[in-house]
Amino acid sequence: MPAAPWRGAALLLCCACLCAALGKLTPAVCSRCGSHRPTSLVSVCFSFCTEQRGCILGEVGKPVLLPCHPNLGRLSNFSVEWRNHDEAVFRSLWDGDGNVETWSVNYARIPTDAAATGNFSLELPSPSFQTYPNLFTCAYSKRSQNHLKSLTFVSFVVVAASFRIPEVRKEESSYLCRSWGGYPQPVVYWLIDDSRQPPDGAVTTRAQALPDSHLYNVTSRLTVNVSKDDTVSSQITFKWFRRKNEKKRK
Ligand SMILES: *[C@@H]1O[C@H](CO)[C@@H](O)[C@H](O)[C@H]1NC(C)=O
Ligand SMILES: *[C@@H]1O[C@H](CO)[C@@H](O)[C@H](O)[C@H]1NC(C)=O
Ligand SMILES: *[C@@H]1O[C@H](CO)[C@@H](O)[C@H](O)[C@H]1NC(C)=O
Ligand SMILES: *[C@@H]1O[C@H](CO)[C@@H](O)[C@H](O)[C@H]1NC(C)=O
Repeated sequence: MPAAPWRGAALLLCCACLCAALGKLTPAVCSRCGSHRPTSLVSVCFSFCTEQRGCILGEVGKPVLLPCHPNLGRLSNFSVEWRNHDEAVFRSLWDGDGNVETWSVNYARIPTDAAATGNFSLELPSPSFQTYPNLFTCAYSKRSQNHLKSLTFVSFVVVAASFRIPEVRKEESSYLCRSWGGYPQPVVYWLIDDSRQPPDGAVTTRAQALPDSHLYNVTSRLTVNVSKDDTVSSQITFKWFRRKNEKKRK
């Protein structure tokens, strides 16, 4: 396969994109125990995820379309390859006579008229997301006079499922935050009086993978003595995202 020459460029681009994406995709607070304004995790967390930024928000178990439609002009003797990180998920090779040879993983596909339209958008019918974040690249390469011309496009796919609006309970000297049905694995942050982080060892969080799905339940307990005037708040976010504090009264 003519994949090798792209590889270095694709990986380099992956890195650049990942850094850019990590910088840009700083979500706001996602869900909060005891929030009076219940918000959907997905819509809040991913308000920074837009197609213009090369970011596609997928949903666990639902088809996702990764755009790739470079303006390439007349096409013959060319190939297209999609990768998730460095693992190929789709490859098509067209010869000069318009014949096509296609290889794919898990029914990933591009439009059948891709050679005519130049639309190489990849559809993943039922994505299985083993790595997180997913970083897809669409690489095109053209053979002419014994050399390969290659271009790489990067799509960045975030896959998530919304956690249910969390429940918070105050017990004697502890606070309990619980939610369920979300993906990927969450982390729970607590804040005392909107500014102080709890002391070391005061928080125990358990995320439990639900059987037969990618989803998680999460339970977090904060054990701390706070004065009556202090507020206690918590937020559920994803492991991979950076933390962002946001003020909110309880
Ligand atoms: C396509 O590639 C074949 C084999 O490499 C070559 O013989 C042919 O001339 C090429 N056709 C075009 C249109 O470049
Ligand atoms: C590319 O193909 C996909 C799948 O058929 C379609 O949804 C999308 O609108 C197409 N994009 C363009 C720019 O034509
Ligand atoms: C996950 O949480 C839901 C709602 O509280 C509960 O019904 C379910 O039993 C929990 N599942 C596991 C495996 O803890
Ligand atoms: C909270 O205060 C009580 C009574 O002063 C004390 O027994 C307990 O150890 C304290 N708990 C924590 C987590 O500091």
